[in-house]
Amino acid sequence: MAIGTVGVVGLGTMGAGIAQVCLEAGHVVVASDAAPEAVAAGVGRIEAGLAKRVAKGLLTDEVATAARARLTATTDSAALGAAGIVIEAIVEELAPKRALFASLHEVCPADTILATNTSALSVSAIAAGCGRPERVVGLHFFNPAPLMRLVEVVRTEVVDADVFASALAFAAALGKEAVPCADTPGFLVNRLLIPILNDAIRAMEETGASPEDIDRAMRFGAGWPMGPFALADLVGLDVHAHASEAIWRGLREERMAPPARLQRMVEAGLLGRKAGRGFYDYS
Ligand code: CAA
Repeated sequence: MAIGTVGVVGLGTMGAGIAQVCLEAGHVVVASDAAPEAVAAGVGRIEAGLAKRVAKGLLTDEVATAARARLTATTDSAALGAAGIVIEAIVEELAPKRALFASLHEVCPADTILATNTSALSVSAIAAGCGRPERVVGLHFFNPAPLMRLVEVVRTEVVDADVFASALAFAAALGKEAVPCADTPGFLVNRLLIPILNDAIRAMEETGASPEDIDRAMRFGAGWPMGPFALADLVGLDVHAHASEAIWRGLREERMAPPARLQRMVEAGLLGRKAGRGFYDYS
């Protein structure tokens, strides 16, 4: 099934990155967010992302200009009715996601695929009661979406085989490595990554090693492109703590639970790069 126009709901870091990926792949993109300021900020992120690609010689000016011209950004969710697939990237909370999926079911034609970029919630729970759970999949992009090659394509118990095949093909056609996975807590990457980041925090507390030294150890001893603390700051400590909590609730495995130190940092507003301070100071 040809996807054509892509809808993206939520223009924060992930939504803007996903919209950029789809524009670069040649899709027309209709992107929406609730407030005009959020729409403007999202468009700014997408334009800055495209400009960065031009500056790095990865896109020509012409291609970037054409990509920008394929973007419509709006507060009017009715515009999403033109999309063959709508990718949701709003707040990581079940109730607003469920409400959004129910409203997308009203706005979108019956064959539109609805996808969630959730990183730690159950895709089945998001899809339940939306009116078309058999056309709902998880499409989990990684941060920063234009740079990270992976998309986890999440299969629920009730998804149509054709819909799932279309979602896999769509992700692959974006130039991504599309890895199918079951709708289990944390899917594949976060199930493995989240406990490691939590272990890094606990190791820092137990051994007295600094974030810098643990990061250097993992970069030069394990070949990570960035160490666990730099990565946690990039992801956002609030996002990481929230995902940890959700996966812990799903699996009840001790290592998934957010460490107390992480929670204290979140409460203090030390959220990582976006706040100017997390494990590192970016000011
Ligand atoms: N568009 C275009 N460029 C972008 C961009 C965007 N949206 N976002 C960032 N960039 C830019 C950066 O600003 C940077 O520019 P400068 O070099 O001018 O500073 C540049 O891209 C970095 O690109 P490089 O090709 O030089 O890449 P790098 O070798 O520095 O690697 C990296 C960067 C890909 C982020 C690498 O460090 C990496 O792979 N880190 C690990 C990231 C990771 O693990 N992410 C997953 C997080 S977990 C998650 O997302 C799941 C979840 O559910 C929470």
